[in-house]
Amino acid sequence: MRRAIYPGSFDPVTNGHLDIIQRGCKLFDEIIVAILVNPEKTPFFSVEERREILAEVLKDIERGSCKVVVESFEGLLVQYAAERQAHAIVRGIRAISDYEYEMQMALMNRRLEPALETVFMMPAEAYSYVSSRLVKEVFHLGGSIGGLVPAIVEERMRTKSQVPGPRSKAVNP
Ligand code: PNS
Repeated sequence: MRRAIYPGSFDPVTNGHLDIIQRGCKLFDEIIVAILVNPEKTPFFSVEERREILAEVLKDIERGSCKVVVESFEGLLVQYAAERQAHAIVRGIRAISDYEYEMQMALMNRRLEPALETVFMMPAEAYSYVSSRLVKEVFHLGGSIGGLVPAIVEERMRTKSQVPGPRSKAVNP
């Protein structure tokens, strides 16, 4: 049984994250989507809300026989991965700009726990520019985020911030 941890902030989960989970499912029997509890950041969605949203959207994705669970964690990722007896960490790399930060983290994690591998995966090109940060920025400025996040995420963002529908039309994502 090969188990991987897919850690992140997921604030909010994007279609790019879901794409990585589906790709990870081709390599692993189980993926734990692990939301970092970070007291230093003020998130848009609370950890509990992010857990709920992820659980909801994961119901609908194609994942074969792969088990996908959602959890949250605090502290060192490698320690959490050891507690869960995970074999690998999955991270998505969209562009070269992601690579430097991701490589630093992967090598630091390897130094802390040499037995734990990091697997980098590329999302579909259509999501290569999608980030939670940009999704929030566009949303708050009234732009369309349709096609970038699951519909339930957009609905929950609207309900939470009481922002009306988009003021711009999206070109195909
Ligand atoms: O989605 P993000 O915000 O890019 O995810 C970053 C995350 C959660 C993978 C990273 O911040 C992390 O692993 N934090 C846990 C604390 C830790 O282990 N720090 C040392 C990593 S080298």
